[in-house]
Amino acid sequence: MLKNVSLKKYNTFGIDVKADWLAEIDSVEQVLTIIDDLHDMPKLILGEGSNVLFLNDFKGIVLHNKIKGIKIIEETENDIIVDVNGGENWHEFVMWAVNNNYGGIENLALIPGKVGTAPMQNIGAYGAEVKDVIDRVYTIDMTTCAPKTFSKDACGFGYRHSVFKLPENKNKYFIHKVRFKLYKKGYQVNTTYGAIQNVLNRKNIMNPCLKDVAEAVIDIRQSKLPDPKITGNAGSFFKNPFVQLEKFKNLQKTYPDIPFYKTENKNLVKIPAGWLIDRAGWKGKRFGDAGVHPKQALVLVNYGRATGKDIKNLADKIIADIQEKYNILLQPEVNFIDITNENH
Ligand code: FAD
Ligand code: EPU
Repeated sequence: MLKNVSLKKYNTFGIDVKADWLAEIDSVEQVLTIIDDLHDMPKLILGEGSNVLFLNDFKGIVLHNKIKGIKIIEETENDIIVDVNGGENWHEFVMWAVNNNYGGIENLALIPGKVGTAPMQNIGAYGAEVKDVIDRVYTIDMTTCAPKTFSKDACGFGYRHSVFKLPENKNKYFIHKVRFKLYKKGYQVNTTYGAIQNVLNRKNIMNPCLKDVAEAVIDIRQSKLPDPKITGNAGSFFKNPFVQLEKFKNLQKTYPDIPFYKTENKNLVKIPAGWLIDRAGWKGKRFGDAGVHPKQALVLVNYGRATGKDIKNLADKIIADIQEKYNILLQPEVNFIDITNENH
């Protein structure tokens, strides 16, 4: 166990806070021992830190998930059931699937983070969501040490949401393994997302295989999103908001070019928060070392020495401005981590 450790390398925003303790977790048994030995200490489960914003030093113990292993459980002509331990890197798992010709997650290539965190916000990109291939999620209840398995239905998946993201469940269930169902024979790749099709057309690929789709997604992501190794960020800072159709039609009168996506509920449309923030004039704005990315207004960045509070102050200004300009309340996608002696 490491004591008084800097978390700068453990979060992609590169926020320089400290944790009282940090444990590298290689097995479920280790989680159980820590719960037993340190039951009173605040605990934070951490994957690759690509969706967190630290507001303070963390007065407790960070459990850094490194539980590795991929195991095929069942294979038929049409599909494959595979258990993946939570400490595996998500993108490496995607490439393992692609290289073995197992379909279903190729559109989710290059999303940072661990497999164990993927269910947390039901990661999604380029027309796919991880819920579509999740069969069940294996956890340890950190309050009782009991194992608890969530069926797909019990996970309550929605857009960037699951039961694990509910405030009362955060750091309650340690996700140590995820069971996936991936596809083999008869699987059709999904290239409906315009940008993927454009890349494939440019490369003259008519009948794309899994690898072609994954490579197209990687191309698009690398051209659009800042690399956290160079500029600290956590991807989209806010979720794309859902608004009532009525309200959207009113917005359209003022902003005829406003982009939108239809949703399953015909009375709700989803609007890209990036467009709202960009159109409100925030793109490229910088306050000290906290800024709005010059190419993608939905991504807040740390140019070096910003604190979590600097980033949060900027986010709060954006929320207030978007509320005032469009009467839309933006919700952060990023998880704020704020455990000090005072608020535990
Ligand atoms: P962390 O940041 O370590 O943790 C996130 C939250 O989950 C925290 O609250 C943590 O306490 C909790 N947690 C972590 N592990 C566990 C566990 N084992 N059990 C229970 N709780 C846990 N997301 C998308 O959906 N789509 C994208 O396209 C996308 N693009 C991104 C691009 C960039 C450049 C970056 C930096 C981020 C992007 N993200 C995207 C966000 C991020 O990659 C995902 O949310 C990812 O799943 C986070 O994984 P992580 O292991 O880094 O989680
Ligand atoms: N846009 C602007 N200005 C900007 C940014 C975007 O006008 O500065 C417009 C674009 O022109 C486009 C629309 O907004 O019309 C949507 O932009 P984009 O395709 O880049 O997607 P996004 O809505 O910003 C979402 C996800 C991403 C995911 C991509 C691809 C959310 C909150 N974000 O981004 O997920 O990778 O779609 O599917 O849903 C993440 O969650 O961290 C993340 C990066």
